[in-house]
Amino acid sequence: MDHSDKGKNMTNNTTNQALILYYSNSGNTKRAAETLQAQTGADMQALTFSPAYPKTYLRLGMVTQRQLKKNSRPKITNDLDLKPYQIIYLGFPTWFHRPPMFVNTFFETADIQGKVIVPFTTSASSQISESTPFLNEMAKTTGADVQTGFAANDLREITNYLKTHQLID
Ligand SMILES: Cc1cc2nc3c(=O)[nH]c(=O)nc-3n(C[C@H](O)[C@H](O)[C@H](O)COP(=O)(O)O)c2cc1C
Repeated sequence: MDHSDKGKNMTNNTTNQALILYYSNSGNTKRAAETLQAQTGADMQALTFSPAYPKTYLRLGMVTQRQLKKNSRPKITNDLDLKPYQIIYLGFPTWFHRPPMFVNTFFETADIQGKVIVPFTTSASSQISESTPFLNEMAKTTGADVQTGFAANDLREITNYLKTHQLID
């Protein structure tokens, strides 16, 4: 998905308040984001970076490990307009038992003061709880309200969270 999805449903009051922002390298988080969109009707935008992440597993492993080691801040190249949104679902793959370094970039550069951030992750086995301490640390000075969020590896996990937190009926 890209910018063209932004602004969809702008006539509908209940849906234009939420935005799904996500990055997916091998497709799992994209599928989760699409499920989330089907359930919430939220707008959706895929995050892009410069340089882009490699698609081969080996090179991706090398690049992401280096970013982690160097405490890098990958550049987000989207032109993000978060003003219309009160809730931002932020989706990412778990890499090395924590959120990718671009999540740090997001918290440091996006204007999220007063917004509710609902993180979600896909992974081989890691739960969102592994990412939680990192997310809380990142959010500390932003004025955003970061929720617990959820692992989004299957439809049931997504639906359960949304219903429990009254994000859908
Ligand atoms: C560099 C790298 C590190 C990973 N680290 C973890 C991890 O710590 N825990 C885990 O459960 N899965 C880990 N995985 C698996 C991914 O989180 C999982 O495949 C995820 O669903 C990928 O999302 P995507 O298809 O949206 O890119 C890792 C994958 C890669 C490539």
